[in-house]
Order: sequence, then structure tokens, then C-alpha cells
Amino acid sequence: MSDPTAPTSRPYPAWLEDAVFYEIYPQTFYDANGDGIGDLPGISAKLDYLQSLGVDALWLNPCFVSPFEDAGYDVSDYYQVAPRYGTNADLEALFAEARGRGIRVFLDLVPGHTSWQHPWFKASARHERNEYSDWFIWTDRVWAPAEGMRAITGLSERDGGFIINFFACQPALNYGFANPEPGHPWQQPVDAPGPRAVRQAMKDVMRFWLDRGAAGFRVDMAGSLVKQDPGRRETARLWREMRAWLDAEYPDAVLIAEWGKPSESLPAGFHMDFLLHFAQAGYTSLFRKGGDDGQWDGRYGWSFFDRSGHGNIREFLDEYLRDYATAQGRGLICIPSGNHDMGQRLAEGREIADLLCAWVFLLTMPGVPFIYYGDEIGMRTVHGLPSKEGGYQRTGARTPMQWDNALPNAGFSTAAADALYLPIHPDAARPTVADQINDRGSLLNRVRSLIALRKAHPALAASAEFRPLYAEAGKLPFVYERRTHDGSERILVALNPSAAAVTADVPGEPGPLAETLYGADAAITAHDRGWQVHLPAVSAAIYRVA
Ligand code: GLC
Ligand code: CA
Repeated sequence: MSDPTAPTSRPYPAWLEDAVFYEIYPQTFYDANGDGIGDLPGISAKLDYLQSLGVDALWLNPCFVSPFEDAGYDVSDYYQVAPRYGTNADLEALFAEARGRGIRVFLDLVPGHTSWQHPWFKASARHERNEYSDWFIWTDRVWAPAEGMRAITGLSERDGGFIINFFACQPALNYGFANPEPGHPWQQPVDAPGPRAVRQAMKDVMRFWLDRGAAGFRVDMAGSLVKQDPGRRETARLWREMRAWLDAEYPDAVLIAEWGKPSESLPAGFHMDFLLHFAQAGYTSLFRKGGDDGQWDGRYGWSFFDRSGHGNIREFLDEYLRDYATAQGRGLICIPSGNHDMGQRLAEGREIADLLCAWVFLLTMPGVPFIYYGDEIGMRTVHGLPSKEGGYQRTGARTPMQWDNALPNAGFSTAAADALYLPIHPDAARPTVADQINDRGSLLNRVRSLIALRKAHPALAASAEFRPLYAEAGKLPFVYERRTHDGSERILVALNPSAAAVTADVPGEPGPLAETLYGADAAITAHDRGWQVHLPAVSAAIYRVA
């Protein structure tokens, strides 16, 4: 018999083919009521901007009731919007208003752990057995070792330690163990009553928000639900069950994994997975090599997108091509410009020309690009901030969106500057939306044009073919072709992030160049075996081949 939980043959909804996503950190996007913290009405108020940028979907970081010891990734009520962001009605209004502009809204689902303030956990921590006793993972004595996992002891009436996923405030929900160790009955199998009840509880949460208009979920730490799960086979089986349920009841819903391993997450039923700084060294090598989140030394000299030219595209490409091969026919890979966990913004240490090169790449690669709020105007990291809500090294990339030059808060909020969630970037010359929106040559408008370009060309669609044509270790340029499966459209992309002009003879299936879509007219010329590419310093070109 075939596996009833296998993914369906249609791997994802058609709208994803030319979709561009935009991640909003709700705390710092726009504060509509002047209390210093961004909110949902603030996001609604900026939908015109988001629509004009051309994005199709928003991913909101968790906006539910929480003590905010990890910025909301410590949920204490999955069914209630945190009052600081507004009400459930505000969220439903945002779903509807966004949808009216063709924009879908994705929520952040945190299925792996709750806050230690969640009533489920508080009940679970009690001495008497109750409905929630097995909803979290408890060792059976405070003195018992946790077998390679992190357990917090001494805080509960219950005799035992609770396993955590991230910070101490984030007790792991119990999805069971793939291989419970004999002699450790506290390690429950995945189909024990506790783990089954937790699965059902997460389905209920998803149903609740899908019924109210959410388009789907970015799923936090999606690969780590089942413990001691070699190859994540049981975790994958769990998600296939979720996906089968969604396909039957919510066929339009989309699941995006924070997993960082498309070869596992896509067969597990996710429509999309990310390249992530902690999962793929190749991703880091593009923009942030030498600039580990905590220890940035002031330059990214060994990143591919760096003027030094020291970068090596193979570090990215060899890894990417493996992921890309396993994603074929299964789902899509998302390349983010940054996110709330990458402590250094894309613009750190880069000028507009460097950023344009990076954006040409981000918006012409296969899969679905994700823009981290503010990256489209070149917002920079704020250094030296104390940790906010468990942000630590991540805090400096979570500062308020820079809307205009209004003092003192760059149009983010009318609150007193010292009442803001995080300070505005202190540089008086910081980039703003207002400065860039009417300047045709601005980064914002170039990014906007590149988004429009992506949408106008089927060869740039998420699943259109990708062929590296010139990608030599330690050499430039990097040249690749995108083409529709039937060959009806072909597009060449050439990138030279370095400060030196570069020339290369690029083998490829020749064809007359029909149109310069981006960059200089003479950058690419055709000959009988391929192309001659000549790119000035820090430049990129996109050509259509007839
Ligand atoms: C994910 C989130 C991160 C959070 C962690 C724990 O990695 O992106 O912000 O701290 O999970 O939930
Ligand atoms: Ca507010």
C-alpha cells in the first residue's frame, strides 16, 4: 500500500512561482499608536508601501502573547495576539487588507517549545499528574542526567528536569523520541498519548489561524521536534502527517521550514525551506564570511559579495547545487537577504554598488527570495546595543525601520526616543524610505525594479532552470543562465562584486542577445561557442537571449 502521508504530486501552489516574500519584525516596523513598539495596525498602515515594493507575502515574526524573553519565540498563548501588537481583530484586519492588495500574510508557528509561562507548562510542572504532565519532556528525577540534552532542574515542584530547546525559558514540547532508550521511560515514543496530544494541539493552532485568514506558517526550528531522531526520520513523518492534513483541509496553505536542509525538509512535506547562516556555510560565504554574528571584525573580506575579490563562489555553489538537486519536483529553496537571527545586516560594510550586485543575485536565483525588512533601503546594523528580549548578537539587526527624516525617530514612532523598543540607527545620514522613494536611482527603486523584472520574466520563475555557466573557484565573474523548461525564454546573469574589472570567455549555448535587462549594453557579447563577458568593477548584468 502506498504511504497515505506521502506529499501530493503538486509540490506547491502556482503563485509561489514569481513570489517575493518580506519578513517583518513586528516590534520595529511601524508604531501606529505611539507607544514605542511596532504593531499590527502599523503594518496595515504600511501596506501601500509593501504593495508598491511588489512583494507578494509577508512573514511576521511571532506576534502572540508572550513574556518576550526570546522576542516572542516563547509563546504563552497561541490563540491571542500580544496586546502590545494589538488584538486578534487587528490581525484579521491585516489578513484581509493585505489580501485585498494581493499580499498573503504568514505567521510564525513555534511548535517546538512554549514559554515557561504557558499554562500548559505550568500545569506540567505540578507534582500531581494532570492532563499536561506528558506535554513537555521531563526527566524522572532532578538528579537524572538528560542524555545529551539540556535539562533545567530545581525550578519546579515536579521531581525532574525539563528539556529545553533554546533558552531556559523555552521548555520543549513532547513530540516523543525516535529511539527511546530502554531504562529511560521518561523518553516516550512518538505515538504515546502525550506526544499525540501535542501534535493535535499544534494542528488546532494552525486551524485557528488558517480559518481567520493566515496564508500559512514559517515554522520555527521545524526539524527538531522529535528527540534523538537520527536523520530526522520521525520528525519528517510527523510533518508529512501535518501536510497530508493540510492538503486535505487547507490545500492553499503553505508551510515554510526553518530547517536549513531541503533534502530533509521538502520530502517531509514543507513547500519551502531556507538557506540559513547556521546550517549552510555556503550561504554565509556569500555575504557574511569572516563576519560571524558575534565577532564581526569590520569587513567581510572573504565573502563572495566583497570588493576584495577574495571570495570563492564554489563555496556557495557546490553546497547549493546539492540542495537544488534534491529540491527538484519537491519544493523550493528560499534565499534570504538576512533575517532577525543574523546579527549583521546585508548592508554592513557595503556600499550601494555592492548591494546592487547582491540584489541582482538574490532576485534572479531559483526558489523564493526573502527580503528582511529594511534591507531594501540598505539599513545597517546598530553596533554595541545591549541585548533586547534575548536578542544578544542579533539585537543590532532588529532596530526600527527608517521611514523618513522626522526627528527623533525616523518616522517609526511618535514616542519619546528613549521609549522605543530599540534605538534608531544613530547615523544622521541613515537611509530612509522617504529619501529613496522618489529617487529613481535609489537602492529602493532598483530593488523594486528587480522585483518587477523577476515577475515579468518566466525564465526567472522559482522553478525555471538554473545553469551555472562560469563559476570557477576563486575567479570572477560568476555567470549563470536561467531558462524556462521549454527553452522559450533564456536569461543570462553575470556578477562581478570585486573592485577590478573582469573578463571571461563563457561557454554556453549561443543565441543572439535580445535585450539588456540590467547593466551595461556591452557587458555580454555572443560568439559561436558562448559569450564574452566583460564587467566593470562592482557590477552586474542581466541579458535576455533570443
Ligand atoms: C528560531 C528563531 C529564533 C529563536 C529560536 C528559538 O531560530 O528564528 O529567533 O530564538 O528559533 O525559538
Ligand atoms: Ca505600538
